[in-house]
Amino acid sequence: MLIYGATGYTGTLIVHEASRRGIDFEIAGRSEDRLSALAAELNVPYHVFPVADREGWKSALKGKTALLNIAGPFSETAEQAMEAAIKSQVHYFDITAEVDIYRLAESKDVAAEAAGIMLLSGAGLFATYDPLVVHTAKRVENPVAMRAAFKYSGGFTPGSVASSGNIINAGLLVRKNGEIKKLTEAPSASFDLGDGPEDFSLMPLGGLVISYKSTGIPDIEEYFAMAVPAEEGSDTFKEGHPVAASGAERSKIFIEVTGEDGTVVRSMADTQDGYMPTVTSAVEVVMHALNGSFKIGFQSPASAYGAELLTSLPDVNITDF
Ligand SMILES: NC(=O)c1ccc[n+]([C@@H]2O[C@H](COP(=O)([O-])OP(=O)(O)OC[C@H]3O[C@@H](n4cnc5c(N)ncnc54)[C@H](OP(=O)(O)O)[C@@H]3O)[C@@H](O)[C@H]2O)c1
Repeated sequence: MLIYGATGYTGTLIVHEASRRGIDFEIAGRSEDRLSALAAELNVPYHVFPVADREGWKSALKGKTALLNIAGPFSETAEQAMEAAIKSQVHYFDITAEVDIYRLAESKDVAAEAAGIMLLSGAGLFATYDPLVVHTAKRVENPVAMRAAFKYSGGFTPGSVASSGNIINAGLLVRKNGEIKKLTEAPSASFDLGDGPEDFSLMPLGGLVISYKSTGIPDIEEYFAMAVPAEEGSDTFKEGHPVAASGAERSKIFIEVTGEDGTVVRSMADTQDGYMPTVTSAVEVVMHALNGSFKIGFQSPASAYGAELLTSLPDVNITDF
């Protein structure tokens, strides 16, 4: 595996997890000083090149099975990294939550299929979210509508703040009758994730593309809320780390699916707060491909690995109601 963007906050956690799990990997990115220090610490080879450097990609991807791109915001890196993976016939993974990147991955379906590779965007948060949608959808006959509410507990790194800007700038997107549409006014929504009704904001998280791929549900709306940091008004990132939310809160993903006959079911996953769920998920998903389990073309976590993926993720609790 090649891990590009290895020196960021999430990248550093991921390379340590990959090392802990005994994966054969090399690291890459644009910053020589940080890469050389990290490579020395882990005793792995490293490659320094900017995302636009095609020769850099070609050389770094030689002999690799998979590329894990963690350099975000992905609006600056995904196009070049996906193209490089297709050209070098190496499976592509990233951990984006930027909806436009999922649309980009979807647009490269035919090219990825022709190259015989899997192009799986969203191996972080969506490794829990997407299989949970499939799990919930299986509880009704003919699912016709889905609403998701994600409550994130923890702070944001600079990369995540930049990515959040891209998500907000994508606009008030929903899927209606199978098509992505932009609303002019945000519908308000209240969900009870176990602590009483709470207000959530409409925000396209990527299920619009990814969970449509895995389930074909024609109507999808996604909502987001953030548990506030411990100190009111404080930064979400201090001294090199995201600031934890108050108390022992966990991040929660809530999925509501409506069946054709009007039956409504709800399932929720709760995970550790902060970035660790993304770290363990990304490494777990890539390991599937390294072990020879993959589907070619554009894939989502659940279109590739089904609802069963949930059982391979540590510290994820599922509640059905
Ligand atoms: N959806 C999820 O599950 C999830 C969870 C966690 C993080 N993320 C996303 O993952 C991304 C990285 O997060 P992070 O916490 O590691 O952020 P971070 O600590 O700010 O690090 C960003 C990393 O990306 C690299 N980078 C940024 N722009 C680049 C460019 N144009 N070319 C090459 N490298 C570039 C940086 O390289 P330098 O070190 O050289 O600056 C750094 O290694 C963000 O987009 C974040 O939103 C998603």
